[in-house]
Order: sequence, then structure tokens, then C-alpha cells
Amino acid sequence: MSEHYFSSRPHSAPEARRVRLVVDGRAVELTSASGVFSADHLDRGTRVLLEHAARPPATGRLLDLGCGYGPIACALAIRAPGAVVHAVDVNERALELTTANAAELGLPNVQVGRPDELDAGLRFDRIYSNPPIRVGKAALHALLATWLDRLTEDGAAHLVVQRNLGSDSLQRWLRDQGWSATRAASIQGFRILDVRREASG
Ligand SMILES: C[S@@+](CC[C@H](N)C(=O)[O-])C[C@H]1O[C@@H](n2cnc3c(N)ncnc32)[C@H](O)[C@@H]1O
Repeated sequence: MSEHYFSSRPHSAPEARRVRLVVDGRAVELTSASGVFSADHLDRGTRVLLEHAARPPATGRLLDLGCGYGPIACALAIRAPGAVVHAVDVNERALELTTANAAELGLPNVQVGRPDELDAGLRFDRIYSNPPIRVGKAALHALLATWLDRLTEDGAAHLVVQRNLGSDSLQRWLRDQGWSATRAASIQGFRILDVRREASG
């Protein structure tokens, strides 16, 4: 049976792998496993996001939307130890890996869970995401509409999307929905989109 990285329960036995990344000069290793997105290496889009997106604020509530094995959530938690980093995913194996990675790296400010486990009243100062483009346009739009709505008034989202996988049409769609969506960077075929509420008045 075929299996997507966004399966809620990958049925293949997990084969552990180690993925290395460098966060502000600190080399860290994360455990990844078959059945999660980019299990063998840090995804290029994720690397572009971590190296070129705006840095997180020192405090506040951050969200890694679609955390996979946790590279974005862990990097945010290292950079902003005074912030709370929520990491959500629909893939149970991804959640287990992110939990284990945050524990191994000594990052108590990472909180991991399924999207429906998060208190619906929580608002986020920043959302960082390498979003699941392959779920299809309708599902992706529904996902982003749900979570962008949960940004604080002056909150911002930083999304990395491959140009070939529709970053420009996603940017147009976000604008059509009334968001300010600007291209913060364009690097190695990836765009970083910064999304904020349109200034009113
Ligand atoms: C492109 S991957 C990025 C994973 C990880 N952040 C990284 O950079 O390696 C997108 C992730 O979104 C997750 N995902 C898919 N549908 C989702 C949903 N409805 N809510 C939350 N996460 C979802 C997938 O399981 C996958 O782990």
C-alpha cells in the first residue's frame, strides 16, 4: 500500500535516521524515521526557511505548522528559549519524533500535539511552516485559512514554498483572501512568503 508523509499512522516499521542541522553555529542532530517527510536529510525548503526567514521574537507563542520530525520547532526553541513553541502535525510518528528530539536537545519550551489537541483559543505571534503542498490545493487553503486566522493582531507567518509547486499562485490566493502576503526571499527555487493582516484604515 502506498504511504504519504502526511499519513496519520505510517504503517511501515520506523527506520531511525539521524539528520544534522546547524542553528546559529550550534550543530544539532535530530532523529528522523521512515514514514515522515524528508526523513533522510534536512529538506532544502526547510533549510531556506531556517536560514532566511525573519528570526522569532524572544518571547511569545510560536507555531510550527506541520512539524514533521521537528527541525523547525527545535530551531525556533533554540533561538527563542523564552518563547513557547507549539509543534503540530497529523502524522503520529512525526509527533513522537519531535517530542523525542525536543527532549534530547533539552528544549522544554516545545509543546507537541495533534492540531485538534491545541486549545482553540490560543493565538500565535508567529507561524513558521514548510506547508504540506502535496495534500492538494483545497486542503492546503483550508489549512492555512484556519491557522492564519489564529495569528495575533500584529502576528506574522513565514511560509516556505517551492516556486515549481505554486508559491506564486499561493501568494495570489492569500492576497485574494485579504492577507498581506509579500515575498521576503527567493532562494534556490524557494520563496519565503511573509503573511500578515492587512493594515486597516
Ligand atoms: C512539507 S512537510 C514539513 C515537515 C517539517 N516541518 C520539515 O520541515 O521537515 C509538511 C508536514 O505537514 C504535515 N501535515 C499534513 N497535513 C496537516 C494538517 N492538516 N495539519 C497539520 N500538519 C499537517 C505533514 O504530515 C508533514 O509532516
